[in-house]
Amino acid sequence: MIIAVDGPTASGKGTIAKALARYFGLPHLDTGLLYRAVGRQVELAGGDPDAPSDALAAADFDDSLLDEPELRSEAVGGLASRVSIHPAVREALFARQRAFATQAGGAVLDGRDIGTVIAPDAQVKLYVTASVEARAQRRYAEMRDSGRAVTLEEILDNLERRDARDSARKDAPLTIAPEALVIDTTSLGKDDAIAAALDMVNTVT
Ligand code: C5P
Repeated sequence: MIIAVDGPTASGKGTIAKALARYFGLPHLDTGLLYRAVGRQVELAGGDPDAPSDALAAADFDDSLLDEPELRSEAVGGLASRVSIHPAVREALFARQRAFATQAGGAVLDGRDIGTVIAPDAQVKLYVTASVEARAQRRYAEMRDSGRAVTLEEILDNLERRDARDSARKDAPLTIAPEALVIDTTSLGKDDAIAAALDMVNTVT
């Protein structure tokens, strides 16, 4: 069984994907981390994230980068969103994601284009969303707890910019797959969001 979980930043899709993976005993891939690693690698190499050749070269990052705490920062999230615009970067990361999705026994993947591009054949497609204000508050609390100095305004501004870029890009934009079940987590706590997702998955499997 392939479970595709898509949605914008801080919508709760990662939390839901992890919980579903645990519940069904499936491996989980946070595909955003791959784009974050490319963004971080461009930065380390002193390249330009908006230059297709620099971004593509960075897609050949060392896997040890995936464990860097810095990958979770707002700055790297912004770089990830910029490198992810380039079709060559998306193509370079495709095989790895597709192999993960199609491994024996199934998998849960979360991202922006899992249900539309990486695994259009997924048995379950969820689209997790929430208001931009709720998402900014969550990200702000997360950043504060991890000791990063950011303001709510900065986060809100970043989110809006990232949403616009992810939705407007030509290649694999953030969009709701036609068969996707939508979960709005704006007024749901973590446990209720997970319970709602599980209910939905159980209705279609
Ligand atoms: O999900 P996360 O915030 O970690 O993703 C970082 C960025 O990577 C997103 O803003 C998006 O531009 C890009 N991304 C993507 N396709 C995916 C996952 C992430 O384009 N499947």
